Amino acid sequence: MATDQDEIRRLLRDLLARPGNGACADCGAADPEWASVTLGVFVCEPCSAVHRSMPHISLIKSLQTDSWEASEVQDLCSAGNSAAKAVYEAKVPPFYYRPSCTDCQILREQWIRARYERNEFVYIEKQEPYSAGYREGFLWKRGRDNGQFLSRKFILSEREGALKYFNKHDAREPKAIMKIETLNATFEPAKIGHPFGLQLTCQRGDSTRNIFVYHEDGKEMVDWFNAIRAARFHYLQVAWPGASESDLVPKLTRKFIKEGYMEKTGPKRTESFRRRWFTMDGQRLLYFKDPLDAYARGEVFIGSKSSCSILPGLPSSTQGHRWQHGITVITPGRKFLFACETASEQRDWISAFQRVVNRCAVEAHFKHKP
Ligand SMILES: *[C@@H]1O[C@H](CO)[C@@H](O)[C@H](O)[C@H]1NC(C)=O
Ligand SMILES: [Zn+2]
Repeated sequence: MATDQDEIRRLLRDLLARPGNGACADCGAADPEWASVTLGVFVCEPCSAVHRSMPHISLIKSLQTDSWEASEVQDLCSAGNSAAKAVYEAKVPPFYYRPSCTDCQILREQWIRARYERNEFVYIEKQEPYSAGYREGFLWKRGRDNGQFLSRKFILSEREGALKYFNKHDAREPKAIMKIETLNATFEPAKIGHPFGLQLTCQRGDSTRNIFVYHEDGKEMVDWFNAIRAARFHYLQVAWPGASESDLVPKLTRKFIKEGYMEKTGPKRTESFRRRWFTMDGQRLLYFKDPLDAYARGEVFIGSKSSCSILPGLPSSTQGHRWQHGITVITPGRKFLFACETASEQRDWISAFQRVVNRCAVEAHFKHKP
């Protein structure tokens, strides 16, 4: 004879099969195995850990192993992911970053807290920290030369189209002005060595400037990130008056396609190979002596499939590389030789190059469509 719990398990399985419940309510990961009894949502394991840290709001239970009261299942029945979305995501600003299951912990955690704990997407006035068009405060900024993090005042102004920082607390003149036009931001906890580490980049003439910052408070850091996205959104709306929201949102900030060490040789190919840190950022492959350098040593523009070929291995005459897993990249201007330490790094880099050239081909294709 079926026990109550067997019957309940069957009901839970049916609930999970309903539209909307098959993916985590918070990050979209497939096949959630946990549910919040109080919020009425189905969530994945990592998101359930964030819920457990808010016991005053969310009571988490396993769909597989916990025992459930019939009344709890009933509550869940009348809620579910789609119903919760309608409430907790009613007013998400278009520029606000919605993390997926591949994003870093800070983005997921703050998204979950913003949704359920702070109700930021129910009450618009709670969005002021990132939607006001102006934000100022202190961030820990990595010193360019000594690598020490020092507290610096930052001001983001949509009206001035700039993010500035100041060296002395009372300084009138900013130490640097980063134009919103060329500003980009990426969470890089591992590289920066802080769970809330954010990398800012901007263009200075021909070169890319990196600035590494963090705030001890995860909410503050994510508010800065979304404030930058908001400022870029408004800038792009003015620059491209005809563009739709869905055209602009992917242009606000990015994740790097791939980063890591490779060896490279110079243009004459007589120099010995040197180990460099590479960052694939859109169509540009930047290289640095150290991952936390302020400026790139150089960059390679990766074009479309028709102009750029990616081959595994190196020409047979090649000498001077310690790492054995070569990649040859042929662009119209030059042939580039890289060497990776392991076969799996070589595979990952080749697939990163291919993603870039294939994506360019698609974009070019769309551009030429009448
Ligand atoms: C920032 O990153 C996005 C996404 O890759 C890109 O579309 C945009 O052009 C970048 N912005 C700047 C100013 O480089
Ligand atoms: Zn999740």
